[in-house]
Amino acid sequence: MNSFMSWVGGKKALRDAVLARFPPYYERYIEVFGGAGWVLFHKPPGLDFEVYNDFNSNLANLYRCVRQNPNKLKYKLRYVLNSREDFDYIALLHKKQIFPRLRDYDRASKFYQLIRYSYASSLDSFASQPHSIWSDFPLIDLAACRLQKVIVENKDFEKLIRQYDRPVSFFYCDPPYFATESYYKDVGFGRADHIRLMETLTRIKGKFLVSYNDCPEIREIWDKPGIQIESIERLNNLAQRYDNGCMYAEVLISNYDTAEKRNLCRQMSLFDEDYTGGILL
Ligand SMILES: C[S@@+](CC[C@H](N)C(=O)[O-])C[C@H]1O[C@@H](n2cnc3c(N)ncnc32)[C@H](O)[C@@H]1O
Repeated sequence: MNSFMSWVGGKKALRDAVLARFPPYYERYIEVFGGAGWVLFHKPPGLDFEVYNDFNSNLANLYRCVRQNPNKLKYKLRYVLNSREDFDYIALLHKKQIFPRLRDYDRASKFYQLIRYSYASSLDSFASQPHSIWSDFPLIDLAACRLQKVIVENKDFEKLIRQYDRPVSFFYCDPPYFATESYYKDVGFGRADHIRLMETLTRIKGKFLVSYNDCPEIREIWDKPGIQIESIERLNNLAQRYDNGCMYAEVLISNYDTAEKRNLCRQMSLFDEDYTGGILL
């Protein structure tokens, strides 16, 4: 299923490739840099324990409100206007960090309004595009159902990973890409954080998969024994307007063999024509 929102760096275009590389077995799924949760929403719910985390407290609050009472959120959104004046006023409240002082559902509805009516989910620039927020209501309802058993956290990645690490844990990490950290205005992320992420993940008992932009700095940070780095390409959505077919190079970094699940599926389908993948998480 789709996410109920867009987000800078959202993994809509990469979600199939990421899901295909999940380990065949795990009991805890932790999406460490949640954003719009494109991979979480794409992942079929199983018997595993699932966690959505983002250090941006506006996002974590929005997810909690969607899960808890989607009708209350839709009620708050029902007369929202697609207008520059309203947008600029709310963007100013956001910039002045007034949001944390608002009640949960007021904060969630204003944040959702900013996401939906800003240019490329920038949160600060009005999109001037025709869009009715009512058309998002069915997505909010579906997301609420999907999130019912998902734990929503609002922690820095290091604390979160330490808390949920077990031999049966699987962490999917989609951090701010190298040199694009400034896009995430509500939270800071810098070179030291990229290194901290590598140091945290290379010490865990569980498995991890990290998606990044392919650049020398990231390859250098992750050049460690036992770490697999796979190159992968996807269509560059932003560049499509002026350069049709332009691709964007990314890497998937892991501490396990990401081909394991695909090999297992291939082997099983050789022996069992009716195999549907049901036993894999
Ligand atoms: C590339 S986006 C994730 C996009 C997401 N995978 C999706 O599909 O929409 C990175 C996210 O990391 C979050 N973030 C930044 N610093 C963080 C930190 N120290 N701990 C946890 N999350 C953080 C940002 O708020 C942002 O939402």
